Amino acid sequence: MGIALFLIPWVLVGVGILFVAFSGGPGAARQAYLTKGGRGFAVVIVLIYVGAGIAVPALVLAGGEEKAGGTAALRSDELADADVEEGKTLFEQTCKSCHSLAAVNARGVTGPNLDEIGKMTPDRVTAAIENGGTEDGARMPKALLVGEDADDVAAYVASVAQK
Ligand code: HEC
Repeated sequence: MGIALFLIPWVLVGVGILFVAFSGGPGAARQAYLTKGGRGFAVVIVLIYVGAGIAVPALVLAGGEEKAGGTAALRSDELADADVEEGKTLFEQTCKSCHSLAAVNARGVTGPNLDEIGKMTPDRVTAAIENGGTEDGARMPKALLVGEDADDVAAYVASVAQK
């Protein structure tokens, strides 16, 4: 909500300036405020409503944007939220038969030993799951897991491979 905190004072200042300007100067503004009448005052009220109409959705958007983020933020958020324990279970169910991975005592030989083929990043693992390994026609089936399950396994593998 950093953006919101930054915006609020400026929105208030802007509304205040409009109030003063449309009432014809500080004196008239006070007059309009005290008497709560006059066309100028009505215009100001409308402007405040319009201002709020813009400010409130803007704040909501700003908050939502932080949650959703761009794709880069989204990806790391997903991985941060990924349930590594769940990933371990899924690995044992789905991947263990083909891959070796010391952390779960996996001894599969169809696919490469995941402790021995270089750095395992979550992105590399999700790519392998999505594409079925790295090349067409390889014996790893495509999309064994999707969505959050794939992210969980990826986070798990990246956290234990080569350790
Ligand atoms: C049916 C056997 C099989 C299963 C099940 C399987 N894989 Fe694979 N996997 C392979 C084979 C074969 C390769 C090598 C193919 C290649 O690299 O193109 C591979 C390659 C990989 C790679 C290496 C890709 C790279 O960047 O070098 C990763 C990571 C991987 N698999 C992860 C997984 C995960 C995670 C699962 C469980 C969701 C899984 N595999 C399930 C057979 C399997």
